[in-house]
Order: sequence, then structure tokens, then C-alpha cells
Amino acid sequence: MSTILIIGGAGYIGSHVVLEFLNAGHEVTILDNMSSGQQANLQAKAKFIHGDIQDRIKLREVFQDHYDAVVHLAALKAAGESMFVPDQYSIQNINGTLNILDAMSKSSCKVFIFSSSAAVYGMPEYLPMDEKHPLQPINYYGFTKLEVERFLGWFDQLKNIKFASLRYFNAAGYDTKKRIKGLEQNPANLLPIILETVMGIRPEMSVFGNNYPTSDGTCIRDYIHVTDLAIAHLKSFETILKTKQSLKLNLGTGKGFSVLDMIKTTEKVTGQKVNYNMAGRREGDPADLVAKADLAKEIMGWEATQSDLENLVRSTWEVYKLNINKK
Ligand code: UFG
Repeated sequence: MSTILIIGGAGYIGSHVVLEFLNAGHEVTILDNMSSGQQANLQAKAKFIHGDIQDRIKLREVFQDHYDAVVHLAALKAAGESMFVPDQYSIQNINGTLNILDAMSKSSCKVFIFSSSAAVYGMPEYLPMDEKHPLQPINYYGFTKLEVERFLGWFDQLKNIKFASLRYFNAAGYDTKKRIKGLEQNPANLLPIILETVMGIRPEMSVFGNNYPTSDGTCIRDYIHVTDLAIAHLKSFETILKTKQSLKLNLGTGKGFSVLDMIKTTEKVTGQKVNYNMAGRREGDPADLVAKADLAKEIMGWEATQSDLENLVRSTWEVYKLNINKK
């Protein structure tokens, strides 16, 4: 049994990560400022500390307890928004992470698991993208993630902090046992937007571009179930304990699906029509973004097993139904 501090553990991905560490028998403490985290996502078995990563005094206090690892997911994550408010993204994603690393490096904790992103790569030069793909983010969000990866390299060298930088492709879906009940507020990602449309929370949605050089003209992404992502966090911790080596790994399925595939699967699963219009392209969207995730399999024996489209949609739909029926 290890002690794990999960920063951002009340959020969408973080709460799923908490489940996997608890399930493996670890002792979990969540640190969250609840800006986007939700009470409904907290598990009774995890200890909860309300606090902000901008509060350096609080961080010092938190790190007076010993943790075997930190998992850090407390970040802003809307790529489009980051182009308008880069200052906020700098403070939250860069300064915030440095504050954690500062407090951590004065403590006995030596393992850091970081929520990175495929956004570190920028426009694909080849597909599927492996970890050797050039790193040229095209939005400020991706830049903040890449900067943190660079800091982590230095903290490894200078402070012997071993890290896993997990480059997520498109996270989607919910825990199939419905233990995570909080819905993201004002979601910017495709699947929650489709479900909000089905639920009538929004009258219709837009498909951003239907003239891409793809099979049906809409963009293709590598959608990975959040439980698969969460399991990868646990595996990366176990792998670092064994190998004492830092890791930079893609987390994806290696398979791409289009925006229309996602809409059609939702119509099939829910039995309802998705009211959508064809709109222009969204700036900064590559046509096709698919991971080569072989390295994660080779190094930590991880691969996606729950990321089929139906499971992504159905598990999300179930949580939407829970929430809507309550109101
Ligand atoms: N899309 C629509 N309509 C919408 C929302 C999205 O057509 O209302 C399309 C987008 O144009 C894109 C696809 O659905 O083609 C997926 O869009 P998302 O906004 O859900 O996701 P992105 O691919 O833009 O980005 C996501 C994360 C990033 C991460 C990236 C890595 O939000 O943080 O995946 O692949 F970096």
C-alpha cells in the first residue's frame, strides 16, 4: 500500500484516477480547489483537502505528510480559450505546477505523475503520432504542457524526482459503475456537447467543418476512455517504482473516429436524434489526430480495453441520465 496525493482529484479525469488507486488498495488524499471539481465526484474512502496550488503555504503544509507519489491534474484545459487568456494558463498550468514541484522537492516524495496532452505535438507531421514526433504546440495550452515536461526533465536530473508525463489524446466516457456522478459544467469537448444536445440542454450543436480530407469530411480523433486513462496512471506509478526511470508516453487507442461517427453512435445508443448543423472549421483543428500508443504497452503493459465507441457514449449517457432525472 502506498500513499498518493491526487491534485485535481475531484475533477473529471482526476476522480477516475482516484477510483483506480483506491481499487488497487492505496491510500488516497485529494487536494482540490473545487473550481471545476465537484463534490459528487468525491469518494468516501479518499481523504479530502480543500486547497489551491497557488497557495504555497498550504502546499508546504500538505507535504508535511509523506506521499509516495503525486498525481497532478489540476490544470486549465481548453485549447481554444488558452489563446485568449494565456496569462491565466501560465499562472495555473506553469506557476501552479512549479509551486507543487517546489513544495514536493522539499519533501520525501519522489514520484510525480503528470497530466500532459497530445497538444504538445501540434500539427501532425505523420500519423499515427509516436513519442518521437516533433514537439511544436500550436496553442498556448499545449505550450504550457510542454514547458512543464521540460521542467520535469530538470527536476529529475537535479532533484531525482522521477516522473511520468502522460500525453492524453481525446479523453471521453465515464466510469461504467456510475461512481462518478458530477458532470462537467460548460463542457468544450465533443461528446459532452453531443449529450447536452440530446438532453435538450442546448437546442443544437455545430459540427466544425465537413470538408476535411477524411472519409466523411469531418475531423478524426483518437478517443480514449477515461477509465483506460486512469488505469495508465496507476500503471505508470507501478512502473516507476520498479524501473526508477521517468516516462513520457502517449495514451490513446491507435484508432480514429470522426465527429459524425460519434454523432451516429450517440443516436444509436440513445435512440434519439442529435440536432446538429454543419458549421465552418474551428481554428487550429488538425484533420486527423491519432496516437501510436505502442510504447505504453511495451514499457508498462498498458493498452486501452474500454474505449470502443459504444462504451464511450453509453457510459457518458448513463451519467447524463442520472443527473437530468434528478432535476
Ligand atoms: N467538435 C465539433 N463540435 C463541437 C465540439 C467539437 O465538431 O461542438 C469537433 C472538433 O472540431 C474536433 C473534435 O470534435 O474535430 C474533437 O474536439 P474536442 O474539442 O472535443 O477535442 P480536441 O481534439 O480539440 O482537443 C482535445 C482536448 C485537448 C487535447 C486534445 C488531444 O480538449 O486538451 O484533445 O488530442 F489536447
